[in-house]
Amino acid sequence: MSYQSIFRPDLFLGQTIIVTGGGSGIGRATAVELASLGAHVVLVGRTLEKLTAVHQEITQMGGEASTFTCNIREEEQVQALFAAVLSQQGVVHGLVNNAGGQFLSPAEFISKKGFHAVVETNLTGTFLMCREAYNQTMRDHGGTIVNMLMENWRGFPGMVHSAAARAGVENLTKTLAVEWARSGVRINAVAPGLIESSGLDNYPEAARNFIQEVVKDIPFKRMGTESETAAAIVFLLSPAASYISGESIRIDGASSLWRKTWEIEDHDNAPQPFDGFQIG
Ligand code: ADE
Repeated sequence: MSYQSIFRPDLFLGQTIIVTGGGSGIGRATAVELASLGAHVVLVGRTLEKLTAVHQEITQMGGEASTFTCNIREEEQVQALFAAVLSQQGVVHGLVNNAGGQFLSPAEFISKKGFHAVVETNLTGTFLMCREAYNQTMRDHGGTIVNMLMENWRGFPGMVHSAAARAGVENLTKTLAVEWARSGVRINAVAPGLIESSGLDNYPEAARNFIQEVVKDIPFKRMGTESETAAAIVFLLSPAASYISGESIRIDGASSLWRKTWEIEDHDNAPQPFDGFQIG
């Protein structure tokens, strides 16, 4: 397997970039693309097996990576993660806070514990990763951070916990962009809409069937790809975005803007899906 990025080879040569949730889905695609562009990618997650599989993919491509298990909800684990990565790599140039999790449920059935668990992972975990990146390396050396949102422009019925947490991450991103500008830190976010990602496998079959119906309401009439999301993250990490901070990019085929007042008949004129994974 190889990865065909649209970015310049060696764009991230000599850089160390942490990708949380790097063992699957958008995190894996981002990690593979960054490694294909010369970065040393630090794959972080809770399950070593998944990280090891991506590590192997990257090594087979001729790329460089390492793996660290860490629960981003645990402050001490996050502190220990940065200490370990820095003792191995010296500096962390980039951080992709991709790790997250949620479950589908009407709000009235979500317990306090369930709500807190999602907020702790998606919001508090992201905060801890940003803070530790800053305190342990980026305050002195600068750096670039990309956070993960969801397309929650009009709220997100069925996922009130995650939608609220990601709204928090969006605002955190704006705040830190200002607080840390003086240290040469840029921090942005991406907000994926419906992405054909391995993350969808975690939803019940009925939900996956329903998704096919939802696609009809996307102006592009298709889901996005993991590679299309990874490319936006890579752009934000790159020097092409060096005057962009505190910003969020929606990757959603214009779905967040659509309303029923404008019918979009079936078409196949959307830009061809971009997939950087080349088999063989
Ligand atoms: N991926 C999903 N949840 C996570 C967590 N709490 N820590 C690290 N990676 C994760």
